[in-house]
Amino acid sequence: MTRRRGRFLVLEGLDGAGTTTQAARLQAWLAARGRRVHLTAEPSRGPVGTSIRHVLSGRLRGAGGGAFDPGALALLFAADRLDHWESEIRPRIEEGVDVVSDRYVLSSLAYQAVATGDAAWVAAINGKAPSPDLTVFLRVRPAVALRRRYAATAEREIFEVPEFQRRVHRAYGRALARLVEAGERIAVLSGEKPVDRVAAEVADAVGSVPR
Ligand code: TYD
Repeated sequence: MTRRRGRFLVLEGLDGAGTTTQAARLQAWLAARGRRVHLTAEPSRGPVGTSIRHVLSGRLRGAGGGAFDPGALALLFAADRLDHWESEIRPRIEEGVDVVSDRYVLSSLAYQAVATGDAAWVAAINGKAPSPDLTVFLRVRPAVALRRRYAATAEREIFEVPEFQRRVHRAYGRALARLVEAGERIAVLSGEKPVDRVAAEVADAVGSVPR
């Protein structure tokens, strides 16, 4: 008897790298090939993810009215991830549906490592999150990513500061190296190419993931 299992595919990159666009393109590509596919994102639409979005926009502050503690925010991302996995990702994978997520653990290993200054702790609190079948990292220079982001919207989230994005870019590099060493399946692609070209390369990478 064959086990019906979908694949868990993750898009990663800096703000402005194109993860949201490429996640949607990947969903369409898989659906066109007859796959059942579910598109999702982190922060999730669940209760913890919704609180995180309020923190990122600056609407939700710490209990004393001050800035939200970066360690507390890292824990929220990790908590959101387990809830997202249990309530939304795992059930679909078990039904044979492919799940495409715009961001997952690697985002925390980059953003929260910089925000808290403790990469090992961030890795530890994310230790219970199951690994994806493939993580695609869209590599875009920080200056290019920021230019795109500024062109797209006037809204600024707390992490969208040039120096922070440069540090996150370097942290992504370090975290990627560790995940590759740990045996995870990772594809690093240039996100600076035209959208169609990147979409084709993402599809190629996904095509090599066993079902
Ligand atoms: P983003 O994908 O930019 O959402 P939107 O396009 O809807 O604004 O994600 C929001 C921000 O959250 C982004 O700056 C990256 C950050 N983030 C983390 O810092 N850690 C995480 O673990 C995740 C999933 C996201």
